[in-house]
Amino acid sequence: MDRLKNKVAFITGGGGGIGRATAERFAEEGAKVIIAEIDIEAGKSAALSAKKIAKNTGGDAYFIETNVSDADSVKTAIKKTIEKYGKLHILHNNAGGSTLLDGPVTEAPIEEFWRCINLDLFGTFLCSKYAIPEIVKSGGGSVINMSSNVALMALPGRDCYTAAKGAIASMTRSMAVEYASDKIRVNAIAPSVTLSDRVKKLLEKSPEIESISKKHLLGLAKPIHVAELAVYLGGDESSITTGQIIPVDSGVTIY
Ligand SMILES: NC(=O)c1ccc[n+]([C@@H]2O[C@H](COP(=O)([O-])OP(=O)(O)OC[C@H]3O[C@@H](n4cnc5c(N)ncnc54)[C@H](O)[C@@H]3O)[C@@H](O)[C@H]2O)c1
Repeated sequence: MDRLKNKVAFITGGGGGIGRATAERFAEEGAKVIIAEIDIEAGKSAALSAKKIAKNTGGDAYFIETNVSDADSVKTAIKKTIEKYGKLHILHNNAGGSTLLDGPVTEAPIEEFWRCINLDLFGTFLCSKYAIPEIVKSGGGSVINMSSNVALMALPGRDCYTAAKGAIASMTRSMAVEYASDKIRVNAIAPSVTLSDRVKKLLEKSPEIESISKKHLLGLAKPIHVAELAVYLGGDESSITTGQIIPVDSGVTIY
């Protein structure tokens, strides 16, 4: 259990769902994990849980209240990360998500478009902007962005979220080229429906749940399935993987 030993990771939205599962797995693999989360209760609880799971691996977890859409908040969180652990090797831009307000461009509220852009895309931009210089100083590492299957296939009815996740996929490729000489890999994970508590609630209200489930050849994903790919991307095992948008999607993009 030492695939991430001596690494320091900054996970946004690490208080819930995929981010929390990833924080727990990272700590279990020996990483020191910053849980950069807007929800104080969720952030504290995830840090406690990840710390417990780390046992004697050398892993640790620490909560820093962070709003990824606010430049000052992100700047401060990165500064506190360095004060706490001295270095930074892994940035996981995980905070984000769609809502039921989304829809086709002609119907989606303008506010929902900017909510997605502000949280998913601008949050990824801001955290990368302030974290990458610290990763460079630490000798290199890995940026793990969070895209979605909607960036790889047409999924009608979520045009705001699709725009944000598509832009993240594109930015992942350009960032991979820009920071390769600094020994920083930049990849994105593209999950399809993953049963975080938030998504479970969304699905309860969806008449499409049966048809969605049928298209997932191996069943719907759990947060841990996505977390396992993040462990690979965060660690040295992925040392020549960069610029990739990697699905964790139960085959939905090929069926
Ligand atoms: N669950 C899915 O089906 C699915 C599918 C594809 C992609 N994704 C992506 O995976 C990521 C995680 O999804 P999830 O389902 O685990 O979400 P979630 O809602 O369960 O967890 C997201 C966490 O981010 C936090 N957060 C929200 N706004 C924030 C902000 N401004 N600053 C810091 N933290 C903030 C929330 O409090 C929450 O703890 C998102 O980027 C989402 O778009 C999820």
